[in-house]
Amino acid sequence: MLTASPKETAAAQNDEKGDAGGNATVAREAAENPLASLPVTVEDFIPLAKARLPKPTFDYITSGSEDQVTLRDNVEAFRRMRVLPPLLHGVSEVDLSTTVLGEKIALPVMLAPVAALRMFHPQGARASARAAARAGTICIPSTSAHNSLEEIAEAADGPKWFQLYAPRDRDVALKLVRRAENAGYKALVVTVDLGERKDDDLRNRFFVPQDFLLKHLRDCGFTHLTERNTYEELVAFNLQAWDPSLSVEFFQWLRKQTKLPIILKGVLTKQAAQQAVQLGLDGIVVSNHGGRRLDGMPASIDVLRDVVDEAGDRLEVYFDSGIRRGGDVLKALALGARAVLIGRPQAWALAAGGETGVKRVLDILRDELTNAMLTSGCKTVADIDDSLIM
Ligand SMILES: Cc1cc2nc3c(=O)[nH]c(=O)nc-3n(C[C@H](O)[C@H](O)[C@H](O)COP(=O)(O)O)c2cc1C
Repeated sequence: MLTASPKETAAAQNDEKGDAGGNATVAREAAENPLASLPVTVEDFIPLAKARLPKPTFDYITSGSEDQVTLRDNVEAFRRMRVLPPLLHGVSEVDLSTTVLGEKIALPVMLAPVAALRMFHPQGARASARAAARAGTICIPSTSAHNSLEEIAEAADGPKWFQLYAPRDRDVALKLVRRAENAGYKALVVTVDLGERKDDDLRNRFFVPQDFLLKHLRDCGFTHLTERNTYEELVAFNLQAWDPSLSVEFFQWLRKQTKLPIILKGVLTKQAAQQAVQLGLDGIVVSNHGGRRLDGMPASIDVLRDVVDEAGDRLEVYFDSGIRRGGDVLKALALGARAVLIGRPQAWALAAGGETGVKRVLDILRDELTNAMLTSGCKTVADIDDSLIM
């Protein structure tokens, strides 16, 4: 992980090269506008976000559950994978576009649902929505966003899906679904992996300001809202608000309430993929929530192939957890994902530079994926298959 501030990084480059001309300009630009010359990789956003956020907020984004084994594994599993591209493939240009649930997107990278975005940047989810629209992709605002789902929908014209946590109260759930339908969201992404326990958040006494707390539920008349908001109280409140004992019955109920496509987020096993098929769902996200749930779960990329083999011909399979490079996108697509979602990269970039930052992170992934596809002889994303993976 990078730790130097942009100013320090630029100054170090300057000293090393002893070039008072070009490098001095780079250093000055970086100090004035962190996004002017940096970053060039997704992880370059980390020190920029760190410099701009209070420590508890930065740690809330960046850390994982307990010993963070799953968090590290998500990233390292990609680095362990090897790609063997063919030679003499004759490909000189590539097309990154694809479709998800019939919707054309310009690149196979979408913005994952991320809670609390307004704590990272005043524009919050509105900035993410605008960046996604400019990049030609989909953003998936969270139920725990601090902007209302209507104001996020109005912020940009691009297609959006709405992420739903299942409230215990079915009336509240139904109100949220109707609001998402009315605001023009094109699918529901139901997240089923609950139970966050992050040591850093406990140590930092991380809390969400009362004004921000679960705005959507309050809008829907959820009346049990606590006045207090420490980390422990937030966890307790979440358990009170959301149904942790989700069963197939919830999805049978939801399927009857809406015609919107339903995607299950948090799948890691063949069995769960099979259940999604049996429930008539439209897609699944292979995800361990970026290592923020039960520590010790496998890296999402390590289970992707099995899940795709089980259900990939019957519903669309998306992927998240650990994407930091365009090459990671290539690997996930090679193992059968239709598109990937990014969580932390979006949050770091939003903190670093709002809409411009998020657009930049999508551009970086697009450029890296373009290079990876060119090198691998994949003219279209449909050409990316597991023959590339050693
Ligand atoms: C700060 C933060 C908040 C998150 N909030 C939500 C949320 O409200 N709903 C949800 O389904 N997933 C949430 N996630 C998980 C992401 O949607 C995604 O699964 C995960 O971040 C992917 O891993 P990555 O961070 O390595 O890209 C959150 C992730 C982060 C980093």
